[in-house]
Amino acid sequence: MIARQVHLVRRPGEFAKPSDFRTVEAELPDIEEGQILVRNLWMSIDPYMRRSMEPIATDLEPWPLNGRLSGPAIGRVMASRHPKFLAGDLVESMSGWQDHFISNGAEFVPYMSPDDALVKRAAAGAAPKDYVGLLGVAALTAYAGMACFAVANPGDTAVVSSGAGTVGSIGCQIAKIRGLRVVSSAGSDDKVHWLEDVARVDHAFNYRKRPIAAALKQGCPKGIDLVLENASQDHLSACLPLMNELKQILIAGFVSIYDTGGQVPPFKNFEYVLDKFLTIRSYRFMDALDSYDTFVSDMMRWRSEGKMTLRECVFDGLEKAPEALCSLFDHSSAGKVLVRIAGD
Ligand SMILES: NC(=O)c1ccc[n+]([C@@H]2O[C@H](COP(=O)([O-])OP(=O)(O)OC[C@H]3O[C@@H](n4cnc5c(N)ncnc54)[C@H](OP(=O)(O)O)[C@@H]3O)[C@@H](O)[C@H]2O)c1
Repeated sequence: MIARQVHLVRRPGEFAKPSDFRTVEAELPDIEEGQILVRNLWMSIDPYMRRSMEPIATDLEPWPLNGRLSGPAIGRVMASRHPKFLAGDLVESMSGWQDHFISNGAEFVPYMSPDDALVKRAAAGAAPKDYVGLLGVAALTAYAGMACFAVANPGDTAVVSSGAGTVGSIGCQIAKIRGLRVVSSAGSDDKVHWLEDVARVDHAFNYRKRPIAAALKQGCPKGIDLVLENASQDHLSACLPLMNELKQILIAGFVSIYDTGGQVPPFKNFEYVLDKFLTIRSYRFMDALDSYDTFVSDMMRWRSEGKMTLRECVFDGLEKAPEALCSLFDHSSAGKVLVRIAGD
């Protein structure tokens, strides 16, 4: 059987391009005893992948040049010679960027497993693409921050950056479910309208059109009680002077620096951390893996109650995956970026 794989052929340094990748064919052998053949249906495209393109010091292994890449995917078992898996099972893995792969069925723990590890998924009411979208890693990151770690009371003001992205949009909606007043930013007017009309935040602004500090001041007349930071040092620096005393900042990531070749803008206003006795916590979704089952049931319930929506931006076909990744950094996509490899 011939599998198609997308390989990285060049490390761009800054400003990744689709031409940094190439789609190749690879012959897969017949499966042996204890192995499974999986056909990927959907894969998730995430900002961290931009960092995997470079040999930089993070907790991530850099992707190899001209070799198999890793990334969250949901697929279906096509053939099994493994006692735990049947043909037709839905399996989540880190074996994205290819349409078929062979696995030995080792246990899957996101980002920490060998590439061929996987886990069965079958939540009631969930479609296959939900496992890389509404129930995926970025969604769990939002849930970890806003449902598990955030210390806030109804009526408090929460600020969420990259509000129209996956972590941001889900974070905004969980904050609304918790009764918080939500202020959020995004990089286009269309995204701002989505935040106001669909996510129902209380105040949204286009950070590429308005100075962030002035927009936050207008949106947060009683100060800020909680920040969920996804975007940038600039955004977080602008929040600090508006923070109320003894409040909390949760940092999920700084997406703005992933495509800049290591150039990081200076962090400002740090003295407010001391003066306002702030708590800053940067965290990973893995910190909330114990809450995975509650996360799934909450997300499915909130969606059925009309309180949770994930905007999706679907790229059709495995060969579109490089374009999909670049779209995260040129503001051309909105919401969760997914690649449909084979549909459901
Ligand atoms: N800690 C964890 O375990 C974990 C897990 C998942 C994600 N994260 C982090 O959470 C953050 C959001 O991830 P996500 O999955 O929600 O991303 P996403 O859905 O893919 O959204 C990416 C968005 O980032 C925004 N962006 C791009 N360049 C930017 C820039 N220069 N300045 C500000 N915003 C920019 C764009 O929206 P606009 O057009 O609105 O700017 C883009 O649509 C990232 O920092 C990511 O690394 C952390």
